Amino acid sequence: MNTENQKIAIVGLGYVGLPLAIRFAESDVSVIGLDLDSSKVESINRGESYIKHIEASSIKPLVESKLFEASTDFERIKEVEAILICVPTPLNQYREPNIDYVLETGKSVAPFLGKRSKEPGTRKKLVVLESTTYPGTTDTDLRRVLENESGLKAGVDFHLAFSPEREDPGRTDHSVKSIPKVMGGFSPECLERCQELYSKALDSVYPVANCRVAEATKLTENIFRSVNIALVNELKVVFEAMEIDVWDVVNAAATKPFGFMPFYPGPGLGGHCIPIDPFYLTWKAREYEKHTRFIELAGEINTSMPDYVLAKVADALNAESKSIKGSKILILGMAYKPNVDDDRESPSYVLMEKLEQKGAVVSYNDPHVPVIKPTREFSHFAGKESQEITADYDCILLATHHREYADFDFSDFDIPIVDTRNCIKKRNSKYYKS
Ligand SMILES: NC(=O)c1ccc[n+]([C@@H]2O[C@H](COP(=O)([O-])OP(=O)(O)OC[C@H]3O[C@@H](n4cnc5c(N)ncnc54)[C@H](O)[C@@H]3O)[C@@H](O)[C@H]2O)c1
Repeated sequence: MNTENQKIAIVGLGYVGLPLAIRFAESDVSVIGLDLDSSKVESINRGESYIKHIEASSIKPLVESKLFEASTDFERIKEVEAILICVPTPLNQYREPNIDYVLETGKSVAPFLGKRSKEPGTRKKLVVLESTTYPGTTDTDLRRVLENESGLKAGVDFHLAFSPEREDPGRTDHSVKSIPKVMGGFSPECLERCQELYSKALDSVYPVANCRVAEATKLTENIFRSVNIALVNELKVVFEAMEIDVWDVVNAAATKPFGFMPFYPGPGLGGHCIPIDPFYLTWKAREYEKHTRFIELAGEINTSMPDYVLAKVADALNAESKSIKGSKILILGMAYKPNVDDDRESPSYVLMEKLEQKGAVVSYNDPHVPVIKPTREFSHFAGKESQEITADYDCILLATHHREYADFDFSDFDIPIVDTRNCIKKRNSKYYKS
């Protein structure tokens, strides 16, 4: 593939699409980022970032050198030779997959798929789906839309592949570049083309038999996490009854050089992946009359964790002769994981909701979430602002292990502190783990 003229489009400039766009542009592949959200497009074209852990300094030089630009105009697909799709794949209210964003993207891309491939000397376009989804989405659902809307044939007139995004936003020990990229093609030729493209920007690619194997790989990774987190959450409850600290146990077990991988308990699952993706397989398995009992059980245990934490807060307040009702409680951390601003599906919202329902007056602190933005499920919390950490509360509840909290000195606080992450180092005398 000739790098000189190489230009690709990345559809969906969120937590996954933006770092991927940066990586390709850094590798001298010109990128047009396409998104429906014009505020993101304008931000990029000004050289600014809208994701806290991505520095503007990693965008600006690429925009200035014209290697990276953003647009809302899908007609720009005419200019590119590959389209990488990184749009959301949520669950609907019945916890069923909602692949509408993927199919809508397919409809927007299809009219421009064939244009360049018919010109002599140009290549067929490659479409790669990166969004997490159930096996069959790429070679059935997306393919149908692309073929029906364009009148072209996958594997003949355009190439089609699936390559899951495995990024862990905020991580510093691995990057988009260094994480091996699994990929499966609709045909061997599609796979070859996909490998060729990604090899320009990434250290290693890992080809698999077809799109479905690649789709199943991503789901397996996230199901593995969900089940193991549920297991350690269950152990936390059992060991606590025995007055054994589960964190001590996991850290000790992790010294075994083989056969054990540490997972840590918490107040529940959060984010756009682990609470959602396993149910993509559960839904698809029903079509084959198969049940996913591990996935269901893990979901049940993980979603029960906020109630466990609430009981711990009630106990801590009780020891002060107080009740949840009327108490002022400060939640530390609204993001679902440490040191990032991503608060999607965060269990902190569930905790906030449940505490308020019981009559508490709830505030929060999060250095990464200065103001709560509107969300579908918790729109009533929108506009709440991060408060200072002081002892002017009846209780502090640590939900997210941001590094700021690990270092904060709580030793003088004469109020109960409930820590769901074993995070705080400078503890007070009323410190509880949950
Ligand atoms: N966030 C993660 O840590 C992570 C990691 C691995 C995989 N994934 C998967 O990657 C996919 C994307 O996740 P994300 O976290 O980047 O989502 P996101 O919500 O941060 O970003 C998605 C972007 O797509 C845009 N969009 C939606 N519909 C569009 C359309 N029809 N045309 C153009 N743009 C459109 C949105 O405006 C948004 O900017 C999901 O399937 C997710 O499961 C996410």
